[in-house]
Amino acid sequence: MPKKIRLGILGGGGDSLIGVLHRVASHINDNYQIVGAVFNPVMEENIGFAEEIDVSTDRIYVDFETMIVEEMKLPEDERIQVCSVLTPNFLHFPMAKKLLENGFNVICEKPMTTTYEEAKILQETLEKAGTVFAVTHTYTGYPMVRQMREMIKEGALGNIHKVDARYYQGWLNPVIHEKEKRSSTWRLDPEKSGISCCMGDIGVHAFNMVEFTTGMPVKSILADLNYLYEDNQMDIDGTALLRFGNNAKGIVRSSQVATGEENGLAITIYGDKGGFRWEQENPNHLYVMSDDNPMQVYKPGHAYNSDLSLDGTKLPPGHPEGIFDSMANIYLGVARAIRGEEYNDGEFPTMMDGVRGLNFIEASVQSHKEGNVWIALDS
Ligand SMILES: NC(=O)c1ccc[n+]([C@@H]2O[C@H](COP(=O)([O-])OP(=O)(O)OC[C@H]3O[C@@H](n4cnc5c(N)ncnc54)[C@H](O)[C@@H]3O)[C@@H](O)[C@H]2O)c1
Repeated sequence: MPKKIRLGILGGGGDSLIGVLHRVASHINDNYQIVGAVFNPVMEENIGFAEEIDVSTDRIYVDFETMIVEEMKLPEDERIQVCSVLTPNFLHFPMAKKLLENGFNVICEKPMTTTYEEAKILQETLEKAGTVFAVTHTYTGYPMVRQMREMIKEGALGNIHKVDARYYQGWLNPVIHEKEKRSSTWRLDPEKSGISCCMGDIGVHAFNMVEFTTGMPVKSILADLNYLYEDNQMDIDGTALLRFGNNAKGIVRSSQVATGEENGLAITIYGDKGGFRWEQENPNHLYVMSDDNPMQVYKPGHAYNSDLSLDGTKLPPGHPEGIFDSMANIYLGVARAIRGEEYNDGEFPTMMDGVRGLNFIEASVQSHKEGNVWIALDS
């Protein structure tokens, strides 16, 4: 059994949404051990949380700069090997950049940065560093999402002509209508969130899902966003029409004011030979449609699935695995990359996905602000 990979964590404290997902995911396949962290910017809470989850407080640091300086003083075989960046968006870039410059591997939450320019700088930094970098588009780790990608590669849908990705949440509805509430959430503060809330937070997951599953790069987009109130600087709902390079078209529909919706990410892909439908809230069912046969339901763990899909399933069919397992699959792929083992390029989203995501987010805002015009994405 290879030794556990020494994991550092930035953000993701006890008060956070996403911290628990990464912590549990990192443990699921027995590959990682958390050895150092800045869970929280308030040292007392930082230490308190480390004690709560039994991480040695010797390596709990006051901020990320101190963490990097102190870790670099340690012998290489004790130092953090990979660091997960789980803070609000504006901190991803400075944290990830400094980690890469010092030779660390990085697992970074999305959106990877707050601007496209920062994303490209980070890409250059990674090229120099030559380390492993993953962006946690969590949903790509689901076995049935992986199955779509592999079946599409093998031509199961023929030529794809239409893709519809939808990501509807309702959590901002109780927040957005009151001025005081809407000015106190970091996701609606451009200083912390970047230029977009809805497209930056969830539209980008849907966009990534489109490119991840189809393998078709989006060439241009036309977006229409909604800000709802004059004083609100951030989109809370948005639709982007997509054009691919082969007359195929698509749509990303996303909203955080879809009242009553929970985490409604779904994708439907239509080709001349068939179609796929998959929904995040029911992730173990992949619906396969065709002109000639009744609809089929593919499920995880069966031998008819691809190697990539089966690699993401731990138990026999009928034992539901979910979001923690999906993120764990991403961590498993990263562990293989760090150890220099072979892995499938569908095992985790990379720097390129992060860069494409920021290109999409900025183009969405630009398209909307220029009067809903088509904007080309970089190839
Ligand atoms: N992959 C996904 O599906 C997914 C889901 C939710 C959130 N996210 C992303 O994860 C990131 C965090 O989101 P969240 O909802 O957990 O946010 P959150 O506000 O719930 O938690 C942020 C955490 O970062 C900590 N923090 C803030 N400033 C810090 C600093 N200077 N140093 C160290 N820690 C600091 C906070 O104390 C808190 O623990 C965001 O970028 C978000 O887009 C991704």
